[in-house]
Amino acid sequence: MRGREVPGGTAVQGASWEAHADLVVVGGGVAGLTAARTASLRGLRVLTVSKGGPTDTATQYAQGGIAVVAPEGDSVAGHVRDTVEAGAGLCDEAAVHSIVEGGPRAVAALTDLGAVFDLGRDGAVSRTREGGHSVRRIIHAGGDATGAEVQRALNAAGLPVLFGAAAARVVTDAAGVTGLIVLSDKGVGVIHAPAVLLATGGLGQLYSCSTNPSGATADGIALALGAGAAVADLEFVQFHPTVLFAAGGVGRRPLVSEAVRGEGARLVDAEGNSVTDGVHPRGDLAPRDVVSRAIADRINRLGTDHVYLDARHLIGFAERFPTVTASCLEVGIDPAHQLIPVAPAAHYSCGGVVTDVHGRTAVPGLYAAGEVARTGLHGANRLASNSLLEGLVVGERVGAAATERAGLRTEVTAAEFPAASRTGRARVQALMTAHGSVVRTGGGLAAVAAELAQAPTLTSATVADLEDAALTETATALVLAASARTESRGCHTRSDHPERTEAWRRSIEVRRGASGALEIPDLTPIGAR
Ligand code: SIN
Repeated sequence: MRGREVPGGTAVQGASWEAHADLVVVGGGVAGLTAARTASLRGLRVLTVSKGGPTDTATQYAQGGIAVVAPEGDSVAGHVRDTVEAGAGLCDEAAVHSIVEGGPRAVAALTDLGAVFDLGRDGAVSRTREGGHSVRRIIHAGGDATGAEVQRALNAAGLPVLFGAAAARVVTDAAGVTGLIVLSDKGVGVIHAPAVLLATGGLGQLYSCSTNPSGATADGIALALGAGAAVADLEFVQFHPTVLFAAGGVGRRPLVSEAVRGEGARLVDAEGNSVTDGVHPRGDLAPRDVVSRAIADRINRLGTDHVYLDARHLIGFAERFPTVTASCLEVGIDPAHQLIPVAPAAHYSCGGVVTDVHGRTAVPGLYAAGEVARTGLHGANRLASNSLLEGLVVGERVGAAATERAGLRTEVTAAEFPAASRTGRARVQALMTAHGSVVRTGGGLAAVAAELAQAPTLTSATVADLEDAALTETATALVLAASARTESRGCHTRSDHPERTEAWRRSIEVRRGASGALEIPDLTPIGAR
């Protein structure tokens, strides 16, 4: 990577600095840094840009672990089966197989880099269970601080990262990507590059309460749509069933890992009754969408706003779950002696930018990996702890795939900022929380769409503007798909269409049409094609 400040911004119109790279990675979490490392090892000049600091990533907050096929009592076929079952008919089975199969090698590479996973008393890597898994296959670190250990190991690799730099626009020409425009504390910058990887994480900030960090503003979705790529499965937003509840708590809320239930904690309501008895054969360890819906039903039925996790009988809770324990103690709850109040909150986007299992989009030179991407692994509902797995496996593959663009000379000539429709973050969150959460209706979605359509089109000048525009664009795309999906499947529940229908056993893609407006290019249900 070569970078220089341009006095007066003369080399590129509108820019105050410019740089050159073979690959620009947007985002410093597991997928981005894994790709950056692989591409660097292959001789590419890689520059990673990240809006926040080294630990302001969703990866940092991942608790449960990494789902990876265990050497004994497990198989690729078993992990694929669990993933596909959780995905409610929308997984791409070939993609699932490919990514699951790549898991053990990707984890070994991370271990070689210095990541340390918890060991059991027998000295072997310890494995836990989470919702939807038929066996104990989830490896973890620091008890419930797996993401922090993954982030630490990747940060320690010492890759060049430009922190505090937000991506504003992926620039393309008829032959594909030519570079990226960013906004940093040095002003507007232009990075000339034939390949850009979007590894920007999720969209949790569409909602008032989320497990995601404040930077999870769907930037990659908006960047991809702006560059002409398609997004799919956006209507499937996973709500984690057990997020620490506090009356009036908004913003990033602490997770109470599903592994807590994996180790035997039980979900009960205020009257002490099980929340999931009779709901699913796996009870409290049913797939996440099932458990979140069961909690939402119980909350509605009892007229409360939360339920409880009973972990009082678990031996050694504080040692096994230090992160959860610390979050609980901070609000005055001791899990060894008290019930933990929990409620569902936005956690993970199962859909995203359409890619193959090497992170390639249909736009030459544009890649996506991690939560922002839709490879087909998650379908309508992600299986627990498959996300770090996907970030590692696909991140590494993008690092290799990007060599196909190396040597292409590209040039960005003007640092133009995008004009986009923009509603303020708080309003988008209020609308989406009211009408786009665990249970939706056609009327509620239509109300969101109508208000977002009134948003003024403005040119972004600050990072906050870019974030508001990305949230507005993503909410519009999500609501478009959720309105079209007149059924209930996976994380998408329509109380006005409560059944799953064979006609909608297909993904819904959204892209920008010729007019610049978002549209669904093909809305034909299965059977009508
Ligand atoms: C958890 O620890 O419950 C979260 C794991 C995940 O989202 O995969």
